[in-house]
Amino acid sequence: MSNQKLFNVAVVGATGAVGEQIIRLLDERNFPIKELKLLSSARSAGVKLSFKGQEVTVQEATPESFQGVDIALFSAGGDVTKALAPHAVKAGTICIDNTSAYRMDPETPLVVPEVNVEKINEHKGIIANPNCSTIQMVAALKPLYNRYGISRIIVSTYQAVSGAGAKAINEMLRQSKEVLEGNDAKPDILPVGSLPVKHQIAFNAIPQIDKFLDNGFTNEEMKMILETKKIMGDESIEVTATCVRIPVVYGHSESVYVELKEDFDVEEVKTLLANAPGIVLVDNPAEQQYPLATDAAGKLETFVGRVRRDLSNPKALNMWIVSDNLLKGAAWNAVQIAEYIAIEQ
Ligand SMILES: NC(=O)c1ccc[n+]([C@@H]2O[C@H](COP(=O)([O-])OP(=O)(O)OC[C@H]3O[C@@H](n4cnc5c(N)ncnc54)[C@H](OP(=O)(O)O)[C@@H]3O)[C@@H](O)[C@H]2O)c1
Repeated sequence: MSNQKLFNVAVVGATGAVGEQIIRLLDERNFPIKELKLLSSARSAGVKLSFKGQEVTVQEATPESFQGVDIALFSAGGDVTKALAPHAVKAGTICIDNTSAYRMDPETPLVVPEVNVEKINEHKGIIANPNCSTIQMVAALKPLYNRYGISRIIVSTYQAVSGAGAKAINEMLRQSKEVLEGNDAKPDILPVGSLPVKHQIAFNAIPQIDKFLDNGFTNEEMKMILETKKIMGDESIEVTATCVRIPVVYGHSESVYVELKEDFDVEEVKTLLANAPGIVLVDNPAEQQYPLATDAAGKLETFVGRVRRDLSNPKALNMWIVSDNLLKGAAWNAVQIAEYIAIEQ
């Protein structure tokens, strides 16, 4: 991108788990930056972060922060996006938002570049990054959708604590130490719901991510259901989800059952996955090789394995999909969108 226009870029939520990865990717991928503005709440204003070997001082994000900013990457919670993104759009900034604030807004494109990159051009100032569990699932299912069509998806997730932010990582590590030292684990952060009730995450599995809705599903589960239809551009796909938090630091894993509309050959499915952009097939049961969160952590790709025809329904497949939730699930997907915008301008 050397002969290219340079951009003034802002990262809102620069001190968070996702913000840290966005800054690292902008640095490592040599994003064409003229000036980088790092924004957070008043709590972290004044903190110094490193970018390209230089210190950048974090500033408090305010409605005035966006004057002269070309592209802003938001990961500071939905309320912050709702409060600040409209000011940014008025200032002419293109906002790429990691929160759920605008994902289901009909005017806002919801983009996974491997699935629907063309939607970026329809933006009216804001482009939404989907939920982390949804991104890796649709990235893996898109090549199968294109070839066979998809009628139904049943997904169960095994989600890392980093999906709930930097504080949840610390909570899991602290609780693990407490239990190993023979003490009671003190729950403080998880699950993040609407009640003050908290549960131990160390050495446990919590079947709740985000608050419960009246239909018995959690908000995270409904995000997977609704966002999948919007990103695939197909309301007819039936989706059901159960989302579970497990004591893994980085990398969400998913058990996915998918019913296809046309007959398929399992070897052809594996070839399609192996050749799909952003997908790595790791599927060798004879050698006990399959995707693992510990292998996916720190990588940009989505890893797929355990691909097999279902025994109860010959038109269905089962598979295991793993990706780093902070990277493809958040920061990398957002930076991919920013790179597309930079190339187009
Ligand atoms: N973690 C994931 O896997 C993931 C994936 C997809 C999307 N997301 C979404 O991305 C967002 C951030 O997630 P995270 O995991 O990075 O959380 P986090 O580690 O808790 O970081 C939150 C960031 O937001 C900033 N912030 C909080 N309140 C603010 C305010 N009023 N004004 C400006 N900045 C404020 C914090 O700044 P201070 O240092 O000042 O507190 C911090 O930089 C959430 O909406 C989350 O749903 C997360």
